[in-house]
Amino acid sequence: MDLLIKNGAIVTAETTFKADIAVDNGKIVLIGTALTVPAKKVVDATGLLVLPGAIDVHTHLQMAFGGTVSSDSYLSGTRAAACGGVTTVFDYAMQRKGHGIVETVKTRQEMCDPNACVDYAFHCCITDLNEDTLLDEFEAAADYGITSFKCFFVYKKEGMMVDDATFIKVLLKAKEVGCMTNLHAENPDVIDMNIANFLKEGKTSAWYHYLSRPEFVEAEADKRAVHWAKSVDAPLYIVHMADKEGLEAAVAAKRAGAPIHIETCPQYLEFTCDVYKREDGRNFVCSPPMKGQESQDALWKAVADGSIDTVATDHCPFMSYEKDWGKDDFTKIPNGCAGIENLYPYMLSAANEGKISFERAVELCSTNPARIFGCADKGSLTVGKDADIVLYDPKKPFTISVKNMHSDYDHTIWEGKTVKGYPVQTYMRGKLVYKDGEFVGEPGYGEFVKRIPAKK
Ligand code: URP
Ligand code: ZN
Ligand code: ZN
Repeated sequence: MDLLIKNGAIVTAETTFKADIAVDNGKIVLIGTALTVPAKKVVDATGLLVLPGAIDVHTHLQMAFGGTVSSDSYLSGTRAAACGGVTTVFDYAMQRKGHGIVETVKTRQEMCDPNACVDYAFHCCITDLNEDTLLDEFEAAADYGITSFKCFFVYKKEGMMVDDATFIKVLLKAKEVGCMTNLHAENPDVIDMNIANFLKEGKTSAWYHYLSRPEFVEAEADKRAVHWAKSVDAPLYIVHMADKEGLEAAVAAKRAGAPIHIETCPQYLEFTCDVYKREDGRNFVCSPPMKGQESQDALWKAVADGSIDTVATDHCPFMSYEKDWGKDDFTKIPNGCAGIENLYPYMLSAANEGKISFERAVELCSTNPARIFGCADKGSLTVGKDADIVLYDPKKPFTISVKNMHSDYDHTIWEGKTVKGYPVQTYMRGKLVYKDGEFVGEPGYGEFVKRIPAKK
């Protein structure tokens, strides 16, 4: 055996139990009590939790956006992921006008592959649905291992928005080839109207970012998307859910049997729209914006009761000087915040504090993402799966600061946040990539995860 992890408490989405794990050739080969198999390396995990690596299914690494490029590269973003216990990253590859899906993903794959410190996959954002060519390509994309496509109801001037008809075509085609449609849901026309009015009135602080896209602006789009998904009976995954009304509509549809999946992000669980009143409010500008307390309470309830399926980060950091472009005009602030290294520690800390169980944290951050997005080898500590393993010390206190993160940004919205417990080691297919605050992996070790469509 290559590795034997002894005396830890293994956490799955269902239960926690004391056992040892043996790893060979990157795979979990044995789980049992008091294993005595010879191993090249033996790790004593007494007092530690042994968890499956998290899967962050929502990142934007080196993404051209907001007049610049997000500040984490494939190297620094995946390095930070490893240090936060994330062993698989799903990045969004953005289709440019006239380009194909596989071509779009291969271009990003070439950028990512030599740099990836953890395993990676791509969702492809559909921005130009040419019916003669692109719709026919969905099947080839699925065969290539790209089993999820994303639509944006917003970002009109950026050329990313799709209309309802295009969205329905994507829903139907994705369903036909056993794939998932992801959606960013906000109402673009109301946002644009609000922005125009605020600018005319000289209301330009970060607070007006929130007021231009408040709860009902997201809720309308959530409800519209749920309506279309239900009507055509096609799988839908709503990304970064942040508002109560939209959440309730999606949960109700789910309970009635519609194939709807809901993601939220740690920033919506931690911060409310009040952050936009702060002097540094621009640093918190992301879309959708943080909402009011009622929405946050509803999100936590849905996280705890199983209505929300996944928690992912929407990691899209920008440098302070870029955020400063919007000091006097919120429309000039590049949208997005950091989070890739904070996801698992934050959700596990919530478990440690009793808000949810450790099993639920594992389900939200690893097991459900693997199941929903077709990662057959990931998402749980089970014989035969990849040995993507995190050792977590529930007693270790940790205060997040830009100084102890492993990204390439110069500030974080999580500065000063104290979490209870912290990852102490991360193994990526059996190889140690993070230990006690240090990245010890190797750029390029991460591999493309070829996913399996639901129908195959
Ligand atoms: O503000 C955000 N979320 N930036 C990244 C792009 C997106 O909408 O997910
Ligand atoms: Zn989005
Ligand atoms: Zn996003």
